[in-house]
Amino acid sequence: MQIETLGIVGAGTMGSGIAQVAALAGLRVIVVDVSDAALDRGLATVRGSLDRLMAKDKLDAAACDAALARIETSTDYQRLGAAGLIIEAATESLDLKLRILKQIEAVARPDAILASNTSSISITTLGAALADPSRLVGMHFFNPVPLMPLVEIIRGLETGSAAAGAVRELTLRLGKSPISVRNSPGFVVNRILVPMINEAFFLLAEGVAPAEDIDTGMRLGANQPIGPLALADLVGLDVVLSVMDVFYKDFGDSKYRACPLLRELVAAGRLGRKTGRGVYSYD
Ligand code: 3HC
Repeated sequence: MQIETLGIVGAGTMGSGIAQVAALAGLRVIVVDVSDAALDRGLATVRGSLDRLMAKDKLDAAACDAALARIETSTDYQRLGAAGLIIEAATESLDLKLRILKQIEAVARPDAILASNTSSISITTLGAALADPSRLVGMHFFNPVPLMPLVEIIRGLETGSAAAGAVRELTLRLGKSPISVRNSPGFVVNRILVPMINEAFFLLAEGVAPAEDIDTGMRLGANQPIGPLALADLVGLDVVLSVMDVFYKDFGDSKYRACPLLRELVAAGRLGRKTGRGVYSYD
C-alpha cells in the first residue's frame, strides 16, 4: 500500500518537523493538536525551518509554498480518517500516548498503520492498548527532524511485518535512513546517547568543569557536532529526564539514575531552547 496522506498528532518540535519533511516529500499531511494556538506554533516552526533552508539555497520559494499548501491543520481527530499512516508525536507520557493512540484507532481507516514517535516508551505496551496491536510500529525521528537522517523502526512484540515494512518504505520516501530495532527501552540511539548526556549533568553538578568546557571537551575530543549539555537543551531537558526515568524503571538498574541537577532544572521549568533557558540561555 502506497501511503499518500500522513496524519500526525502533536504539532510540537517533532510533529512539526515530521510534517515538514513529509510535505517536502510530496505527501499530503494532516496535523492534529488540541488547540489552534498549538497548531499555529507548529506551522510557525515549519515556516521558520523552511525559511532557513531557502536562505541557504537548499530550497526554492515554489517548493516551499507547495510544501506548506500540502499541510492541513485541525483540532478534529476525525480528519485523520483520510490518512494511510498516523504518527503519534505527543509529549513523552505513557498515559497521554495511550489515550491518543486509542483516539486515533477509533477514527483510523481499517487499513491505516499507526506509529508512535516515542523516545523510550515500550511499543509493546502501547500496542497492547489497541484492539489490533499488529498495526502499531515505532517510528522514532531525531531532532531536528529536517536535518537528522535517521529513523529507528521499532517492532513491538505484536507488530506485524506488513506494517513495519510499509513504515520502512515510507521512511525511505521521506529521504531518511531507517534502522530496524526490536522493542527495548530507549531502542538503540537513546540507550547510548541519553546516559551520556546524564553523565554530563553529573560532571556539571560535581563541579568537575563548567558547562562550556564539558561541551567543548566532547566537541573537540569526541568529534560531536554539539556538546552533550547543548544537546540536552536542543532535545529538551524534560525529554532527557523522562528517558532516564524509563531506563531506571524498566531495567531496574541504578546505573540509570537521573542526575538530581537535571531533575531540578526540569522542576524549575528550564527545559532548554523551547523555554528559552536550560543549561544555557537563549534569546
Ligand atoms: N531546519 C532547517 N535548517 C536548520 C535547522 C532546522 N530546524 N536547524 C539548523 N539548521 C541549519 C542551519 O541553517 C545551518 O545551515 P548551514 O550548514 O547551511 O549553514 C545548519 O543547519 C547548521 O546549523 P547551526 O549553524 O545553527 O548549528 P550547528 O552547526 O550546531 O548545526 C545541528 C545544527 C545540525 C542540529 C548540529 O548541532 C547537530 O548535528 N547537533 C546534534 C543533533 C543531534 O544529535 N540530534 C539527536 C538528538 S537525540 C533525539 O532527537 C532523540 C530524542 O528521542 C531524544
